[in-house]
Amino acid sequence: AAAEKGGFGTFMEKEIHDQPKAVEDTLLGRTDASGRLVLDELRIDPEELKGISKIIVLACGTSAYAGMVAKYAIEHWVRVPVEVELSHEFRYRDPIIDDSTLIVSLSQSGETMDTLMAVRYAKEQGARTLAICNTNGSTIPRESDAVLYTHAGPEIAVASTKAFLAQITASYLLGLYMAQLRGKLFQGEIEDILADLHKIPGKIQEVLDGGDQIRELAREMAQEPSVLFLGRHVGYPVAMEGALKLKEIAYIHAEGFAAGELKHGPIALIDQGQPVFVVVPSPHGRDSLHAKVVSNIQEVRARGARTITVAEAGDGDVVDYSETVFYVPETQPLLMPLLTTVPLQIFACALAAEKGYDVDQPRNLAKSVTVE
Ligand code: AGP
Repeated sequence: AAAEKGGFGTFMEKEIHDQPKAVEDTLLGRTDASGRLVLDELRIDPEELKGISKIIVLACGTSAYAGMVAKYAIEHWVRVPVEVELSHEFRYRDPIIDDSTLIVSLSQSGETMDTLMAVRYAKEQGARTLAICNTNGSTIPRESDAVLYTHAGPEIAVASTKAFLAQITASYLLGLYMAQLRGKLFQGEIEDILADLHKIPGKIQEVLDGGDQIRELAREMAQEPSVLFLGRHVGYPVAMEGALKLKEIAYIHAEGFAAGELKHGPIALIDQGQPVFVVVPSPHGRDSLHAKVVSNIQEVRARGARTITVAEAGDGDVVDYSETVFYVPETQPLLMPLLTTVPLQIFACALAAEKGYDVDQPRNLAKSVTVE
């Protein structure tokens, strides 16, 4: 069993460390010699993809957070509206679907019953269905019109890690491919983004190499009853993912929310010593997002919070207001989730281990949820 875990104590640790390869393998072989994206494997007529008027992403749990990240990128690159909906909510609300709607399901296992039922429902309503899936030949891709596999390799730990990064990577490839087909980005822009995506595995490795700092904090925080996570833009789903990891394996009350929502309620939760993780946007990003999040850090700190920030290397603005800073290497703002998620995974994994819990098989949970 030790060999299966690649020398790590748990599958989750191993899978966190598999992430550079998961991203690399998901990118592999999907461009031609001239640098153009080729996704022939999709089995969907490019003409049909050109005519899509709306995308609806369906998924649950961590996969749904990958979908939320994808929405920011795909709408920005392709200029097609993207909705993200939890599979189990979708078919009970009479959604608007027609034959120009593309359903993109995201599922690691390909067997999640809620997502399968939602895909079936959408198909019946005439939508095109595309599965982004990590499990070859599983039910959801078999029942979909098209499939784009993530190549994260088998994920054993109940808490999803490498599948999440692979899902973001694959949905970015889909977005770039649609942008290429529809002429929404210049070829040079697509090539630049792809080149930066190819640099991500090495940068994830850098984050992994700095893991001791995160594990040390996790050990120190093992007795905390509640942890909050804030993020904005693509950092918002990352914050929710950080909270979900802590709930599912460390059984700690955790909540992730959009930093802009603070003043609309959650700031009332902050009192002396409350740990707050903040996923800080890139200082090179859009408008004044970075400055706004920095002022959120100040606001919670002024009310006694213990602030832990995940920020881009070289971001000096957060230092004065953070108890602890975890730096991740610089990349394009939209690619940041592929890096900022990693410290949060390491944190949850180390904290659960510190509490003596079964990290790979948390209580009450199954790896794939095959019941509705
Ligand atoms: C993730 O850590 C969870 N165990 C869970 O939320 C999972 O992502 C969800 O059940 C969806 O599974 P799927 O990707 O296999 O469809």
